Amino acid sequence: MKPGSQPPPNTGLHGRLFELREVVERRLPELLPPLEREPRQVHAAMHYALTSPGKRLRPILTLAVAEIFGARQGRHLDLACTVEMVHAASLILDDLPSMDDAALRRGRPTTHREFGEATALLASFGLLNRAFSLLADRGQRLKLRRYSTEDMVHHMADAIGSSGLIGGQALDLESRPEELDLERLEFIHSHKTGALFLAAGELGAMAADARRRDLEIISRYAKNLGLAFQITDDLLDVLSTPEETGKDVQQDEARITFVKLLGVVGAQALAAELLEFAVGSLEPLGRRADPLRSIARFVEGRGH
Ligand code: IPE
Ligand code: IPE
Ligand code: MG
Ligand code: MG
Ligand code: MG
Repeated sequence: MKPGSQPPPNTGLHGRLFELREVVERRLPELLPPLEREPRQVHAAMHYALTSPGKRLRPILTLAVAEIFGARQGRHLDLACTVEMVHAASLILDDLPSMDDAALRRGRPTTHREFGEATALLASFGLLNRAFSLLADRGQRLKLRRYSTEDMVHHMADAIGSSGLIGGQALDLESRPEELDLERLEFIHSHKTGALFLAAGELGAMAADARRRDLEIISRYAKNLGLAFQITDDLLDVLSTPEETGKDVQQDEARITFVKLLGVVGAQALAAELLEFAVGSLEPLGRRADPLRSIARFVEGRGH
């Protein structure tokens, strides 16, 4: 199945979040090298992995945060798209035979199933490097008072490095059933998934030149949101079908998850509690943080 051959997915996003998704969706393909440029297979795989129908929740988060602090959309859209590039790169790796060995992603064959493993790996690195090149370029153009381009690049690099996403993925793979405990699970989830949510939120605040104390509010919110998001992803792995999620389910049999530790109801309760913390930390921002409250509600709705 080729990109563009399916109708847009029903992501369940509404209102401003839906609009922000549309904006991201239109911009993503424009930020990659053209399909006709060599190496064509790698560029095709980059487009395939990036533009396949995802929820775009991380760039939506970046954009929603930036808007709260008064940034004009046109100025930080590409920065938000770098977060989605990094995410898409991580999904290619996550699906590889040596990782989760997944066949289906976003309703389509996984990138390595469609293009072969070597091209998939190159496409993942291609997306990562494109993301950093864009981040450096667009960060520069913003000419912020409180943050430098280096701040942004460091944040993103740390979020996905071995002390972030890669670290979480590594421990996720090597964990054994007898290591099922709260502390280890929290570490894995907050690294493999939470770190990129955190970077997405912080990048939005930085792009808007938000005050340090506002950045801290966003960090607390995004950390809890990211952790809750992975719990709901683990819930969907046991509660949903591939038709609903567009990806393989019952994938986590060999993994340690909150669902295994706490059961379905316990995991739902924990996700709800984390989302309550997340929303609670937005209090000082008042009504203008409503889009972030909507994101939290959206995440909570996924786990049921
Ligand atoms: C999937 O993320 C990987 C996880 C961290 C759980 P999403 O559920 O956001 O995937 P897409 O981008 O919408 O496909
Ligand atoms: C993936 O977690 C996290 C990252 C991609 C970093 P999962 O393995 O649970 O994600 P899905 O379920 O395949 O989307
Ligand atoms: Mg995985
Ligand atoms: Mg996976
Ligand atoms: Mg999963």
